Amino acid sequence: MKRPPLMIADDVSVEFPVQGGVPGFSRRVLRAVNGVTLQVRPGEAVGLVGESGSGKSTLGRALLGLEPVTNGAVSFDGTRVSGGTRAALDRLRRETAMVFQDPYGALNPRLTAAQAVAEVLEVHRKVPRSEVAARVSELLELVGLRPEHGTRRPASLSGGQCQRVGIARALAVEPRLIVADECVAALDVSIQGQIINLFMELREQLDLSLIFIAHDLAIVRRLCDRVAVMYLGRIVEEGPTEQVFTDPRHPYTAALIRAIPEIDPDRPLPATPLDGDPPSPMRLPPGCAFHPRCPHARSECRGDPPPAERTEPGRRWSCILGPGTVAPLTTKQPETDREETP
Ligand SMILES: Nc1ncnc2c1ncn2[C@@H]1O[C@H](COP(=O)(O)OP(=O)(O)O)[C@@H](O)[C@H]1O
Ligand SMILES: [Mg+2]
Repeated sequence: MKRPPLMIADDVSVEFPVQGGVPGFSRRVLRAVNGVTLQVRPGEAVGLVGESGSGKSTLGRALLGLEPVTNGAVSFDGTRVSGGTRAALDRLRRETAMVFQDPYGALNPRLTAAQAVAEVLEVHRKVPRSEVAARVSELLELVGLRPEHGTRRPASLSGGQCQRVGIARALAVEPRLIVADECVAALDVSIQGQIINLFMELREQLDLSLIFIAHDLAIVRRLCDRVAVMYLGRIVEEGPTEQVFTDPRHPYTAALIRAIPEIDPDRPLPATPLDGDPPSPMRLPPGCAFHPRCPHARSECRGDPPPAERTEPGRRWSCILGPGTVAPLTTKQPETDREETP
């Protein structure tokens, strides 16, 4: 039987005030997250993908109570945490953790790896003082570090080793959910693989839920059960990873997937997988925000309201197109009859 979701985001928006508003007129805001609904079950790994600026980090931070939510609600383990009680927020902080992109920047250069992990145990009073050293050894071993690594400072550890220390610090909290924000983006490909394997093992061992933020879709495909695709603050498609990768329903998802050469090494990478940059979230296009870059856009995509969400069991996408319209990626197409721009 499916267990109830651990984390629920219900129509969540996050806005930032921006400079340049005219005094006396409505304040200008940037809506970094725009009405996002998402659920994460215990032990589940959900990938959050999309181009830079699509709101992934802001959403991740909002889910962990690190960014105030301006609309909608976040619940953790059945308790509302956004606009909830201090106790609910404290519990969220105790039971979740974040792993960041920059493995060096996230660590205090003066502390050894063992001290960095011990610090978390002490702050959260996880174990009695007499047991801190033993627990530190356990955690370092869990993330694949040897005892001698514990005596080193970040400057004498590699990027991958620092990231393992960062993960050990996150695990020291004994979290039920970790948000990993581009946590392998700065690492060599071979080290990325090791960290991904580590996350896969930890999920199994610890029944950990994971929100894995990445712009690298190949990594998400290996690690995640489900994937949510964000564009300009909205989730435009969500579903089981393999289904989304082999049969994307939103043209934006299809374009992102086409931009990964590893998916089908025989197929040449299109010169421009995705034309141009996304528009600024300050000036969202009317209708479907993706329409200016969409090869399938029709007149009804250009005007409000934005496309309604279409659903199938376990899947949803926000596009007027139905199944089978966006070229499936499993069939190889010769260069000449690739989908045409109308
Ligand atoms: N603290 C902030 N103040 C103002 N704007 C912000 C802030 N943080 C993020 N943004 C803006 O919100 C949008 C989403 O950013 P972010 O969540 O970092 O996206 P991603 O992680 O997908 O790259 C961007 O336009 C970014 O410039
Ligand atoms: Mg980010």
